[in-house]
Amino acid sequence: MARKKLIAANWKMYKTPAEAKAFVDAFLPLVAGHTRDEIALFPSPVLLPTVIAAAKDSNVAVGCQNIHFAEEGAYTGETSVGQLIAVGGTHTLIGHSERRQYFAETDEIVNKKLHTALKHGIVPIVCVGEVLAEREAGKTESVLKTQVTGAFANITAEAAAPIVIAYEPVWAIGTGKTATPEMAVEAHKIIRAEVTKLLGADVAAKMRILYGGSVKPDNATALCGQEEIDGALVGGASLKPDSFTAIVKY
Ligand code: 13P
Repeated sequence: MARKKLIAANWKMYKTPAEAKAFVDAFLPLVAGHTRDEIALFPSPVLLPTVIAAAKDSNVAVGCQNIHFAEEGAYTGETSVGQLIAVGGTHTLIGHSERRQYFAETDEIVNKKLHTALKHGIVPIVCVGEVLAEREAGKTESVLKTQVTGAFANITAEAAAPIVIAYEPVWAIGTGKTATPEMAVEAHKIIRAEVTKLLGADVAAKMRILYGGSVKPDNATALCGQEEIDGALVGGASLKPDSFTAIVKY
C-alpha cells in the first residue's frame, strides 16, 4: 500500500505572530481540499497558539520544532510535550541537524525525546543526515545507521507506527545545494533497511521517510515524485504561502 506523503514546513526562528497568522490565512485557501498529501507546519513555540487557532478545522497540522524529553522541570527555555499538547499541537520535530549542531543534541537525547513523544501520542519526525565531510569520506551509510540505531533504542515495533523520519543531508540545508533524487533515494534505502533490521519489514514498509535540504518549487516534483521519498521537510521555501503551496502541490 502506498504511503501517504507528508509535506512539512520548518519555519525555524522566523515570523512574528502577525506574520504567522497572515501566512496561515493566505495558505489555507490555497490548499483547501488538498487530500493527496498530509500538510504540517512547524513554527516557533511562541507562535503555536496563533498558528493552531488560525489552522483550526483545516487540513493543516501544527507541531513544535523541538520538545524536551522531561515531562516538566527546571529546564529554562525548553518546551514540554504537555505544553505542546495543551495548546493543541500534534507533531514535533526531533533531532534536527541545527539542534544537533548548535545545541549539542546527541543520538541519546534524540532517543529520549522520541520515547517522550510516542508516550504522549505526538507524531515525531526524527531528523537524520550526514555532514559534508562525512559524505566526502564515504561515511554516509555508517552515519545514517548510527543515527537511526541510536534514535530507535528500546523503541518497539508496536510503538513505532507514528514515527516519521526526515533525511536531511546537512550540506544541503539552506545552501541551495540539493541532493539529487538518486542520492536521496539511496540514503532513504539505507535508512529503511536499518529500520527493517531494528523493527521488522512491516514497520519499515509503512514508515514515511521525508527528504529535506533546499527543497524548492522547481525540484519538489523530481524529489517527492520518487516512490521512496515520502514527502519533504522544507525550510526557506516554506516561509511564503505561494512557494510552499507549489511544493505541497508538486
Ligand atoms: P532549507 O529548505 O532551507 O534548506 O531547510 C531544510 C531544513 O532544515 C528543514 O528542516
